[in-house]
Order: sequence, then structure tokens, then C-alpha cells
Amino acid sequence: MTRVRFLGCVLILALSVSALAQGQKAGDSLYKRLGGYDALAAVTDDFIGRLVTNPQTSKFFTGFSDDSKKRIRQLVIDFLCQASGGPCVYNGRDMKTAHAGSGITEADWDASVKDLVATLNKFKVPEKEKGEVLTLASSLKADIVDAKKKKK
Ligand code: HEM
Repeated sequence: MTRVRFLGCVLILALSVSALAQGQKAGDSLYKRLGGYDALAAVTDDFIGRLVTNPQTSKFFTGFSDDSKKRIRQLVIDFLCQASGGPCVYNGRDMKTAHAGSGITEADWDASVKDLVATLNKFKVPEKEKGEVLTLASSLKADIVDAKKKKK
């Protein structure tokens, strides 16, 4: 065995042991690899916390009662849980209906994605899973950014 191949085998073994140590199996859902429900809820809370305090996006979250905020938080968790292959059932509105007419612009979207990256970094989400979460988010962009506000 060449030196490079040997080092490659050691690396793969080390990564597998590290994944197993976290109780993960190859082929696990993104939900499971992110750490399950509590991890997803903590990530959601941090992300929402950033959206409501960021001067670029805070205006979208004013005027909601505490109960409405709790409801939105729960719906976002349910949505992300279901979308990442978890056991939740999302009973909210589709993304287009929920955000239509809100006036979310490309600049608001870009600021939100930066906040999402900051959240994922804070929770030390590995690059692979971070990429999958960002791919999921960008697949929703067309439904969330207000059609009238899209760059021509
Ligand atoms: C990955 C991106 C996003 C996801 C997965 C997401 C998901 C959701 C979900 C599940 C709801 C609840 C839907 C319902 O009430 O039935 C919601 C509502 C809402 N979202 Fe988002 N959202 C995203 C991005 C954004 C962004 C970027 C903003 C603004 C900057 C935003 C602002 C809102 C607001 C204001 C509501 C409440 C709408 C209302 O009840 O009137 N969302 N979102």
C-alpha cells in the first residue's frame, strides 16, 4: 500500500469513528445529522433571534403578539424538521402563501442568509451539513422573496 493510500484509509477510518461516536450512520437524514429535534430548535431560535434584531429584517417581525411569535417559531421548526427528513409533520402554509405580499427583497434575503451562516457557524455545524441547509434555504428563495421586489 502506498503512503498516500494508507493515509487516506486512516482519514476515512477516523471520520467514520468520529461519526459513530456521535451515534450517526452513513445515510442518516440531515435532521439526524444535525443532532435531532433539540438541536434543530436551538438553531431555529438563534436564526430567528438574528432576523428579529438585524436592522435589515427586523421590520418584518414587528406587531406580532407573543403567542403569534411562538406559533411562527413552532411552524418554522416543524417545516425544517420535515424538510430535513425528520419525524415532524408541517401543518403551516406553503412558503409562497406565507410570505406573499410581505415585501421581502433580495437584500433582505441576502442578509437572512448571512444570519443563517452565522447561526450554523455558531453551532459548529460541519461543512457538509451546512451546505445541505444552505441548499435547502436557496431552494425556497423564489417563493420567499416578493416577486415584485426581485431584481430584473
Ligand atoms: C429559509 C428561510 C425561511 C423559512 C424556512 C421560513 C419559514 C417560515 C414559516 C414556516 C412560516 C410560518 C408559515 C405559516 O404561518 O403558515 C414563516 C412565516 C413568516 N416568515 Fe418566514 N421563512 C424563511 C425566511 C424568511 C425571511 C428571510 C423573512 C423576512 C426577512 C421571513 C419572514 C416571515 C414572516 C414575517 C412570517 C410571518 C407571516 C405571517 O404570519 O403573517 N421568513 N416563515
